[in-house]
Amino acid sequence: MEEKAHTRSSKFPSFTTPARVPEAASVSTGARFAEAFNCMQASLRAIGGLETEDLLRCGIANGLALEVGAGPGYLGLDWLERTHGTSLVGLDSNAEMVAIARRNARDMGLGARARQVVGYAHDVPHADGEFDAVFSSRSLHEWADPVAVFDELWRVLGDGGRLWVSDLRRDITPRARRFLERYVTSDLVRDGLEASMAAAYTVTELELLLAATRLANWEVCPTPIGLQVVVTKAAKAA
Ligand SMILES: C[S@@+](CC[C@H](N)C(=O)[O-])C[C@H]1O[C@@H](n2cnc3c(N)ncnc32)[C@H](O)[C@@H]1O
Repeated sequence: MEEKAHTRSSKFPSFTTPARVPEAASVSTGARFAEAFNCMQASLRAIGGLETEDLLRCGIANGLALEVGAGPGYLGLDWLERTHGTSLVGLDSNAEMVAIARRNARDMGLGARARQVVGYAHDVPHADGEFDAVFSSRSLHEWADPVAVFDELWRVLGDGGRLWVSDLRRDITPRARRFLERYVTSDLVRDGLEASMAAAYTVTELELLLAATRLANWEVCPTPIGLQVVVTKAAKAA
């Protein structure tokens, strides 16, 4: 699924996108990494840098939501703070991240509306159609079998519900990449970012993956530093 270099015009430099390197299982684990990642995401939240507005703009604002690969949990928790009568299940395969997400939920006074659980995105421990919305940020590039995960998230999404997945993109410009690197101050997390960038998909690669899933009417949009997928599951005719 390698992509050719993008040539903006003969006046501008072209950038070659390196081949994708799946993230090694050894990356992004350990209590020290989890705490360093938590600090970074807390700072991002403090400057209003989370993607909560993107969720709200695409109509994710009600009911019970599932956040997949929630890490320290800030996106889902910020979404809870900015919506009314909503509740959340945050799922992550890393027990250290889940412990931090529980602590963050408690500290933000959201413990009663949020349940953070250890689990895998390809095997969500919930019934078909249970969620009004499913969302995920910066986790897709780590999924070992993304087609199986997208199908599983589709299974637990209710009719009329919306699925939103955002991630880094491997073919961002060198300038956007430098911007990302400056924002990461911890050496531990910087190594993780390097591995995540190498494992991230391009829009074309993700479109090929989605074409192999059960999802219908999806759209992949590039952003300056990444990509987003938004899909609505059609409501069943009465
Ligand atoms: C880079 S972190 C992003 C965390 C969070 N979404 C954020 O933006 O702060 C990716 C997270 O996805 C989780 N993850 C990766 N693969 C997963 C899978 N198959 N199922 C559940 N969680 C997964 C990792 O444990 C990690 O916490």
